[in-house]
Amino acid sequence: MSEHPPNDEIYLDNHASTAVDPRVIEAMLPLMRSEYANAGSITHEPGRRIAAMIQECKEQMLSLLGANGGQLVLTSGATESINLALFGVALHPRQKRRRILVGKLEHRAVLDCAKKLARQGFLVQSLEPITHDHSDPSVSGRPFHIGRIDIDAFKEAIDDEVCLVSILLGNNEIGTLQDMRSVADLCRAHGAILHLDATQAVGKVPLGELSLQADLVSFSAHKFYGPKGVGGLLMTDPDLMLTPLIVGGGQQNNLRSGTLNTSGIVGMARALAIASESLESEMPRVYSLRDQLWQELRSSIPGLRLNGPAWNKDFPTDPKELYGLPGNLNVQFPGVDGQSLMLKVPGLAVSSGSACTAAEPHPSHVLTGIGLSQDQARCSLRFGIGRFNTSEQIDQAAKKLTWAYSQLIQFVA
Ligand SMILES: Cc1ncc(COP(=O)(O)O)c(C=O)c1O
Repeated sequence: MSEHPPNDEIYLDNHASTAVDPRVIEAMLPLMRSEYANAGSITHEPGRRIAAMIQECKEQMLSLLGANGGQLVLTSGATESINLALFGVALHPRQKRRRILVGKLEHRAVLDCAKKLARQGFLVQSLEPITHDHSDPSVSGRPFHIGRIDIDAFKEAIDDEVCLVSILLGNNEIGTLQDMRSVADLCRAHGAILHLDATQAVGKVPLGELSLQADLVSFSAHKFYGPKGVGGLLMTDPDLMLTPLIVGGGQQNNLRSGTLNTSGIVGMARALAIASESLESEMPRVYSLRDQLWQELRSSIPGLRLNGPAWNKDFPTDPKELYGLPGNLNVQFPGVDGQSLMLKVPGLAVSSGSACTAAEPHPSHVLTGIGLSQDQARCSLRFGIGRFNTSEQIDQAAKKLTWAYSQLIQFVA
């Protein structure tokens, strides 16, 4: 197998996974070559060395996430972190509350946990999203953006019986970034635990105090140029009571048993450090590549429509004005099915409207959730632009898609 992808391949599916940054690979290699002891083997020097290294990584990640003093549970990725957050809170023996609120546009990992909890007797309520943009605050009292939780509906839904609220920061299909402050304030006022699925946001946008506003934050290293199979659940309050999902050797304060994935953890910490250092320059670069793709496609395909929050051409100076993930673009190609378009441009790695699970035949619940018809959802493609994409690749991708579209539209009556 070749070490590099074929030259004519263009990878624009960075929401699904990212390339491992070569600097991350360098950091991981010693853990496989020489520092291979078990982090639990503190009876000998190699084990103590690796245990200290993991502790250092944890502290570094907590600090980079703006959560010094919190606790970080190391997991196999965001799916496990989300499971631990939702089941861990809801099924704790001291938990007496029986209501759970989850965003309607959440990732399947959250939705399926919520469904399972509903089968176990919890009352699960889905939170409606806003389905259109409006930037004029004089109309609604505040600007609003496609995909954000409707705060008025949220106010109606939350009460003192809610044990858990789970919200997606950085939608994996349409990119919407939530207005976390309003959600967090309401959760705090009602004593509900707030879980944030920040899988697409960590390393992509400044979290700053955002993560501190939540009680639990889930993420996966492979979404920010780290390795697959490793992630974390940040607990901003280290004393929050969670029931473990995985029991066994009692590692990680009994919250997640099992031998630690040491090379993965070191890689994840390095990836997070690189992402934090490069965020300031990477965000506007990726943002402008996304704009380039949109402008090039729009100028050659009549009637192309944007799915998700709009953006201004210039990268905002105030992070509060960033309404979507900088590298996300989700568009509707009028009259042409997304899957057919993908088949026509085999060298281009993107995702169709029925993403994230390619095996899932139904149109995306996110796209239909913001008001698209099933047909419109099927005519949509998601582009995820990332660190290693170039302006030439974007130009090539736009040209290939325009050509494929012009071929396919001829057959539409
Ligand atoms: C928003 C979101 N949450 C959770 C996950 C699950 O992450 P993982 O597959 O790394 O467990 C993903 C993966 O696509 C995601 O985009």
